[in-house]
Amino acid sequence: MELLDKLKWRYAAKAMNGMKVPQEKLDRIIEAARLAPTSSGLQPFEIYVIKNQEVKEKIRPVAWNQSVITDCSDLLVFAAWDTYTAERINYMFDLTNKIRGFENEGWENYRQMLLSSYPQKDAEENFNHAAKQAYIAFSQAITAAAFEGVDATPIEGFDPAAVDEILGLREKGLRSAVLLPIGYRDESNDWLVNLVKVRKSTEDLVTVIE
Ligand SMILES: Cc1cc2nc3c(=O)[nH]c(=O)nc-3n(C[C@H](O)[C@H](O)[C@H](O)COP(=O)(O)O)c2cc1C
Repeated sequence: MELLDKLKWRYAAKAMNGMKVPQEKLDRIIEAARLAPTSSGLQPFEIYVIKNQEVKEKIRPVAWNQSVITDCSDLLVFAAWDTYTAERINYMFDLTNKIRGFENEGWENYRQMLLSSYPQKDAEENFNHAAKQAYIAFSQAITAAAFEGVDATPIEGFDPAAVDEILGLREKGLRSAVLLPIGYRDESNDWLVNLVKVRKSTEDLVTVIE
């Protein structure tokens, strides 16, 4: 199957059957998220992989009681930085220098530019920017799951403050942005499984300027 066929196969499963996703498939899905591009390469988020059934049970009531939260194999929580700090920015720039093995004046000037702007901004604005980056990784995880023949249901329908509390995210300078249960569709209990995918036409989506 080509990638586009797999993207047509995927849908936001409303019911999952509790089957476990093989660890090597899950690892590749998470690796796709890790490889996602982010603004200035800062990767301002972390991914929590909830395998623990009790923790899933705690999250379900604060996620509109959606059954996929507990019936998935693994629940991914994309948790964005609550703000940008000098320490966080320096960590990624230092990591780049360490991995590449050299320092570069242009890159160091760019570091100073970010240090003189992001940390001074309002934390809410910074969190929203960080959350957008988390969504890029989230989207890559969805595509990677489809590639693996694994279902993934994107979930924004939850109370972020309650999930932060359950996972102790605020103490770590993180805030939940979006959830992604990974698992297998329960065909016999999902009203959506046989419905045709609806997308607007390419003409309505795309404007080409020659
Ligand atoms: C960011 C985001 C949040 C979503 N939140 C939910 C949700 O909380 N519950 C749900 O059942 N579907 C949720 N969806 C699924 C969308 O409704 C679904 O992706 C869309 O209708 C397109 O259908 P398809 O993914 O099945 O092709 C969400 C999708 C995205 C991208």
